[in-house]
Amino acid sequence: MEYRIQQIQPYFDQEEILNLEQAIKTTWVTEGPFSQQFLASLKAFTGAKYAVLANNGTLGLYLALLAIGAQKGDEIIVPDFTFNASASSIAFTGATPVFAEICPGNLQMDPAAIEKLITAKTKAIMPVHVYGQSCDMDPILALAKKYNLLIVEDAAQGFGVFYKNNHTGTMGDVGMISFFADKTITTGEGAVVLTNNEEIFNKLKMLRNQGRPNSGTFIHPELGMNFRMTDLQCALGVAQLKKFEKIKEIKQKNHGLYEAMLRNVEDVEFIEQSSFCNFIPFRVNVKVPQLEALIENLEKNAIQTRRMFYPLHRQPCFDYLNYKHDDFPVSNDAYNRGISFPVHCSLKEEDIAFLCETVTAFYKK
Ligand SMILES: Cc1ncc(COP(=O)(O)O)c(C=O)c1O
Repeated sequence: MEYRIQQIQPYFDQEEILNLEQAIKTTWVTEGPFSQQFLASLKAFTGAKYAVLANNGTLGLYLALLAIGAQKGDEIIVPDFTFNASASSIAFTGATPVFAEICPGNLQMDPAAIEKLITAKTKAIMPVHVYGQSCDMDPILALAKKYNLLIVEDAAQGFGVFYKNNHTGTMGDVGMISFFADKTITTGEGAVVLTNNEEIFNKLKMLRNQGRPNSGTFIHPELGMNFRMTDLQCALGVAQLKKFEKIKEIKQKNHGLYEAMLRNVEDVEFIEQSSFCNFIPFRVNVKVPQLEALIENLEKNAIQTRRMFYPLHRQPCFDYLNYKHDDFPVSNDAYNRGISFPVHCSLKEEDIAFLCETVTAFYKK
């Protein structure tokens, strides 16, 4: 279907084209000068001491989990309301994902739900920073300290989001930020894995590059895989990083337009913005009644819709964990009533007005 309003659209201009042209002209298509520049800029921006690139966020999480030694017999606590990759990356290490409830206001992992899930097998907690905000990290970090657990942050959606001046992904032992096409800055596919721990960094380096510290040798001291990016992707990344402030401004302006235009529609409940972090709109996330009828109506008007996450405890692929349908009421409610409207930089004010008028008319009926 040809949509009048698409859900996601990356924001590119001449700079991405020039960088790509340069990468092609220099014939550096695997990790090279753009990768080095992208990585150095990411470290400076996030304040992480060490960083490695990964080919996407899912494998970046898997790499981070391998680097902390996650394996069969371990349990890792992860919010019930997140993209499936948070938990599938855990399952692929052989460890068991243990789901935790979320907060009703901001939809982030609920720190108060974690302690009762900790057992002798718990190895780590995976806070997931969703929808352009962060989890409340202080109580989660305190629990990790109390029970001697590791923290693996899934900051896939967290680029540019700071919790009390700390960038998401840098507060635990290791963290991942994704650069998938719908993320705040994008390289198509791609991710960065951040850590302040030298030992974890050394493991990440070996694991990501065939079990050797550097390319150019056929001697592999350890087992590793190929989690590398390409310089073509990093050429995009370098250009995207430069326009982050502009992207942030446009998305915040767009989000503000939605808030103003839907202010009088009582049925539309915006997700709460927490005071402990800044907000980089990832989508416009709201809870509404009659969700399915609204979706049908928007799609009829050529507006592409996106529901919120399907709770992990109900995912068919996690049936083997034996959760019950009603186990996580807050997460279930977010799925049952949650819809995301687009906030990307190519939206025009009249697009947002059209979408908001369609929603307003729907609830007036
Ligand atoms: C919360 C979360 N975790 C993990 C991922 C996986 O990242 P990627 O798509 O780069 O594999 C995503 C991607 O959308 C995500 O939203």
